[in-house]
Amino acid sequence: MNALAALDVLARAVHVLGVLLWMGHNYANVVQNPRFRPFDPGQSAAVDAALRREHGTFRYASLVALGTGAYMLWYRGLLGDALALAPHAAALGLGVWCAIAMVANLWLVLWPHQKKVLGFVPASDAERVRCSRITFVSSRTNTILSIPVLFLMVSGAHGPYLYG
Ligand code: HEM
Repeated sequence: MNALAALDVLARAVHVLGVLLWMGHNYANVVQNPRFRPFDPGQSAAVDAALRREHGTFRYASLVALGTGAYMLWYRGLLGDALALAPHAAALGLGVWCAIAMVANLWLVLWPHQKKVLGFVPASDAERVRCSRITFVSSRTNTILSIPVLFLMVSGAHGPYLYG
């Protein structure tokens, strides 16, 4: 096995680990807060610090998932075909597009608002509460998207039965 092939094996394992960290956090949040709970301006500094660490970890885990996923596509010569939804890579490609939407949602919608909720960017209490509603909806959007993404990502195994 050459070095690039070994990296492909490693990328797959690291990809699933990154996805577990990222979506594990998201699903835990669904169980802890089944309904929207506005940000509590009176919450302790210890809770704030734990939330900042947790948020940083899963945010960067999403980039690990993106990077390792892109590497696997490139190494297998599938990058263009998956993104263009070519017939032989359409199921995986659809999953990749939805996953890219999830990463963009996390970094471009959730994170700018979460910065205010977590106090990285100064904001009034009213603004922090408003932003917490946006982060809630953004996070739940990713929860919902993750369901078809998982189905499509693992289509290498069940795809031939369904689409073959
Ligand atoms: C962010 C962009 C992403 C890209 C470019 C990407 C790309 C890939 C690629 C190329 C594979 C290998 C597929 C195969 O060997 O058949 C894969 C596997 C996988 N992906 Fe992703 N992925 C991304 C995000 C995600 C997300 C968000 C999830 C979960 C919600 C996910 C879950 C998985 C799982 C569970 C596997 C293992 C599939 C298997 O072993 O059959 N991926 N991904």
